[in-house]
Amino acid sequence: MSEWRAFPKLELHLHLEGAAPPAFIRGLASEKRVDLSGLFDEAGHYAFRDFRDFLRVYEAATSVLRNPRDYARLTRAVLETSAAEGVVYTEAFLSPDFCGGGDVVAWRDYLAAMQEEAAAVAAQGGPEMVAIVTAVRHLGPDKSRKVARCAAETAGDFLRGFGIAGDERAGAATDFAWAFDCAREAGLGLTAHAGEWAGPESVRAALDVFRPSRLGHGVRAIEDLALVDRLAEQGIVLEVSPGSNVALGLYPSWAAHPIAQLAERGVKVTVSTDDPPFFHTTMTREFDALAKAFGWGAEEFATLNRTALEASFAPPALRQRIAKIIGETQ
Ligand code: ADE
Ligand code: ZN
Repeated sequence: MSEWRAFPKLELHLHLEGAAPPAFIRGLASEKRVDLSGLFDEAGHYAFRDFRDFLRVYEAATSVLRNPRDYARLTRAVLETSAAEGVVYTEAFLSPDFCGGGDVVAWRDYLAAMQEEAAAVAAQGGPEMVAIVTAVRHLGPDKSRKVARCAAETAGDFLRGFGIAGDERAGAATDFAWAFDCAREAGLGLTAHAGEWAGPESVRAALDVFRPSRLGHGVRAIEDLALVDRLAEQGIVLEVSPGSNVALGLYPSWAAHPIAQLAERGVKVTVSTDDPPFFHTTMTREFDALAKAFGWGAEEFATLNRTALEASFAPPALRQRIAKIIGETQ
């Protein structure tokens, strides 16, 4: 049993579908008589070869989530799994592309179902959750505009942010500028996946065009120290998922991951799991691996929590509740 399991943890970067336990997806598939056997290995884990194949398996698994009730059940399954790892606060990425195909009326029903279930889990002592709508970059700019409209129409105490995920190499940042402008005008917090599958130029474009306060991953900024210094000076917070990066082959080992170097050079970093069952990780395993690779302990983990709380998109009352739980004063 890890000494870090009970440590209260904040997670800012978790794709709801990507956090679906394989057994949950298989259960839905059998209820709906859909054959998903090719998506799993012999041990029942998700099976994929590389990032593009990961996206294919992710989208195929998601295809059995067909209505708001399925998403409510997914929300509970994910939050209960996180609770067992000491997670007290989660910012979950939700994709209107998979929840009603970008139609605002349908999206409202999906969002309401997830919000209601998240509130029920929190009332039972589970983690608090807020939502970030994500456009899927490889689905193109037209869909990103629809998804941004869904986000803008439903912004509130539960839906707090907007971002972009998917294949970072698809299209130019400017193709997605309208979506970010729409979300910014609606008062949503902004984050963008960049510096994962493309290098410093992609990070610069994301900063210049999307003007986010946070970046998903952002780790390949390390390839250009002037950019690292810009991240530090602007106080851009990185949602780092080292276990995801190592599992997808971005770095050959935990020891080779740049998270400690980025932090040492003054960049604000947080730690998340991204898509935990796909990458055989949990928040506890991330903490264990950071302790082993870089000698991080209670002090560094408290700093991660403080940074995550500051960077979170939580409304003020919720932020104060989480601050109390982690013993920080605001
Ligand atoms: N969607 C789910 N996980 C992702 C990742 N690691 N990168 C980009 N898009 C994603
Ligand atoms: Zn991600």
